[in-house]
Amino acid sequence: MSQRFDTLCVHSGSQQDPVTGAVVSAIQPAVTFRQLGIGKPLGFEYSRAANPSRRVLERSISELEGYKHSVCFGSGIAAELALFQTLKQYDHVLFCEETYGGTFRLMKTVLNKFGLRSDFVQMDSPDRITDYVTKDTKMVFVESPTNPLLDVIDLQGVGEVAKKHGLLYVVDNTLLSPAFQQPKKFGADVVVHSLTKYLAGHNDVVGGSLSFDDASLQEKLGHLIKATGAVLSPFECYLTLRGIKTLYLRMQKHEANHEKIAAFLERHPKVKRVYSTTLSSHPKRERFLAQATGHGGTFSFELKGGLASAKKFVRGLSLWTFGESLGGVESLVSHPPTMSHSSLSREERLKRGIHDGLLRLSCGIENADDLISDLEEALAGV
Ligand SMILES: Cc1ncc(COP(=O)(O)O)c(C=O)c1O
Repeated sequence: MSQRFDTLCVHSGSQQDPVTGAVVSAIQPAVTFRQLGIGKPLGFEYSRAANPSRRVLERSISELEGYKHSVCFGSGIAAELALFQTLKQYDHVLFCEETYGGTFRLMKTVLNKFGLRSDFVQMDSPDRITDYVTKDTKMVFVESPTNPLLDVIDLQGVGEVAKKHGLLYVVDNTLLSPAFQQPKKFGADVVVHSLTKYLAGHNDVVGGSLSFDDASLQEKLGHLIKATGAVLSPFECYLTLRGIKTLYLRMQKHEANHEKIAAFLERHPKVKRVYSTTLSSHPKRERFLAQATGHGGTFSFELKGGLASAKKFVRGLSLWTFGESLGGVESLVSHPPTMSHSSLSREERLKRGIHDGLLRLSCGIENADDLISDLEEALAGV
């Protein structure tokens, strides 16, 4: 029976134990598994290569994103690294300009030393991608909406250009989760997640995943996880599965809080600009609504008065936590210029619109009015 998304959140991955009937799948910490004889494993051999708890999580994420296969890693960045390791020296990857700062750091400070090449391209018009395609280009990697400025990429349009040039099309779906956006519908060959964010959802797991249909990619990534070893522990697999059960509920609350808080900030005289897809002022709102069914809890705003105002604002918060990350039940504020985007030069940041007074909010699931009162107090001190 085909299941709707909220049902899938609870039941994906076939978690019931067929022997005991337990409704929650076991945390299986075993490192090794008895084999029946030489060349006769029972299914699992060594937990770096595969583990029963990880297998359940991988099944669950595959069902949520609508793919045949998923592989889980010890962080979102480890998942991306494994994907790039399927390429070879001198291969070339095209990214949307406003890719997550950690992906940029991975490419520019690590993988370029091994000969992997990349360009970060303004993808407002998908056809612009064609100008950057060379004989070595193998992959197009995008996020939508982007982090922290919530730019919206035309997922269908980019997918068509990627197909035309025979490129692997990868979408990082971390910001909306499959609850609100399913990139497979727009032609994505691979979906990336930082499980750390909405899927696990409680600020207590660092993990990542790749989902896809291609069996040969499954073989390559199966080899890579065994060869490079960036695995997610069985306990973290369990925590992520537990988080996924409430994904849809949480996303609805994150979205409701986002909508209320963005409207409050847009009216505030000390706020210069709000970057939120919930607002009619968002320049690509229509495109966003055509490809996503909800807004998630993450958006940004810019204070008048730059860095000095941002420092005062952050000091005035009490319910919101000033810290890295997003997507958990606790509301968080971060300062992209000095945190996620600190590996870019100031000039490069300003060129991309990441001004010194920019703050990113990850709206948690607390009461929206309490969150607004706290923001109001912090803004009074600016
Ligand atoms: C959009 C996006 N992708 C990937 C990552 C990397 O994930 P992780 O921190 O789990 O390595 C992040 C982390 O913030 C992110 O925001």
